[in-house]
Order: sequence, then C-alpha cells, then structure tokens
Amino acid sequence: LATHTKEVEDASTSAAAAAEKGPECSICLSNCHEESPYQAQKETSRDIVGSVSLSRCGHVFHACCVLQLVSHDATSIVCPNCKTIHGVMTGTQPPGGTMTVQTQSMHLPGYPHSKTIVVSYNFPRGVQDAKHPNPGRPYYLVGFPRVAYLPDTRQGRQVLSLLRKAFDRRLIFTVGTSATTSQPDCVVWNGVHHKTEVTNHGGHGYPDPNYLDNVTMELAALGVTEDS
Ligand code: APR
Ligand code: ZN
Repeated sequence: LATHTKEVEDASTSAAAAAEKGPECSICLSNCHEESPYQAQKETSRDIVGSVSLSRCGHVFHACCVLQLVSHDATSIVCPNCKTIHGVMTGTQPPGGTMTVQTQSMHLPGYPHSKTIVVSYNFPRGVQDAKHPNPGRPYYLVGFPRVAYLPDTRQGRQVLSLLRKAFDRRLIFTVGTSATTSQPDCVVWNGVHHKTEVTNHGGHGYPDPNYLDNVTMELAALGVTEDS
C-alpha cells in the first residue's frame, strides 16, 4: 500500500508540474513552452517559433508543428485533437464532373407519400493529378453515370443541397482502388453513402429509416453543413 501511495503522489506531482509548464503539443508530444523537436527540421518552419491556438476549438500546438499539417495549397486544417475543421475542406474528385437532378413521381419504400429525387453523377475521362495514387495515368469510369435516389421530402431536399455543396467541394468521389471490384485507378465513392438502388438488393437501397440522418453526419464530418 505504501508503494502504491507513493506512486500516486509522484504521478500527481509530475502532472501538476506539467500543467504549470503549459499544455502538451499533441503533434510532437513535448510541452508547448519548450522548443518543438521539429523546430529545426524543415526550412519552412525554422523561423516560426512559439505556440498557436486554433481559432475554432482553442487547442494549442507549437506553430511549427501545425505547419507540418498544412500543405502549400491547403484550404483547411483539421484539429488533431478534436477534428474540428478550420477553413473549407476540399477533396480530390476529378475535375469537370456533372451532378444533375430530376424528380420522378414514383415512391421509395418507406416514403409512400413522396416523390423521388434522382441524382445523376458523371465525369469526362481524364488523367490523375499529383494528389491521386498514380499521377499521369488515366482514371477509369466504371458504372457511370451513377444514379442515386432521395425521397422528395423536406429532409431529402436538405440532403440534396448538402450533396451539391460537397460535390462542388470535390468531396463525393476520389480516385482509388474500388473496394468491390479491386480494380485500381477508378473513380470511386469517397465515403459519403448514396442509395444507388430503389429497393434493397445489394444493401444500397430503401427502406432505410436512418439513411438521411446518417448521410447528414457523414457530410458534417467533412465540414459540409447547412451554414458552412
Ligand atoms: N452503391 C452505393 N454505394 C456503394 C455501392 C453501391 N452499389 N457499392 C459500394 N458502395 C460504397 C461502399 O459502401 C463504400 O463506402 O462505396 C464506398 C466505396 O466502395 P467501392 O467499392 O470502392 O466503390 P466504387 O467502386 O466507387 O462503387 C461500387 O457502386 O454506384 C455503384 O456502380 C457503382 O458498382 C459500383 C459500386
Ligand atoms: Zn509540437
């Protein structure tokens, strides 16, 4: 028991000492009031001294450590501690794509009183850029135009406007290896789920009472919200 008590005392004393020194930078795991071990590593961060707090969440890091997270053409950074997005997140969706919308009078399972919004995505052929897995090689369009269904309800229309925003920010598709076909260099979905079936044959259709809530959360995780 004596040993245990001693350990607890030691731990609380060192925690108190650390708190007095200042917060820990979770990027380099050293104290913000001490120099970052990365300070001298990069030419770009050599002169950036001291610490900064991110404007939206207030988490504190060494300035030079935050710089390591930012690429030269970044439009946003995500707090390493709490994932709050600062700025506008954009993706690596190929350029020149189209997102078209139609309304049809049919009803989706689960929405017997609503019409249906049909969203159609397509892309011209093209070549991968520096942010894609194989820059310079072409990408392949398998299963395009891709069609997705939403109920024409208040929430369905809300999701449609969020999808439009995400598409404009190049977040709906990316280039990669298709998980379902294992084919590399394809234009693939980027994690925002779409209902590509009316009824549930392959697990991507209706009914699914949680779909609109779930996709709204997936979009929010990318910083796409009504007021963003
Ligand atoms: N419909 C909707 N989403 C799908 C489908 C589908 N048929 N198949 C997979 N997904 C989802 C997966 O759940 C995953 O989250 O897309 C994400 C990426 O999976 P990949 O297989 O890499 O996607 P991708 O190759 O782009 O598309 C698979 O979706 O729309 C259809 O015709 C398309 O057959 C293709 C399939
Ligand atoms: Zn640091």
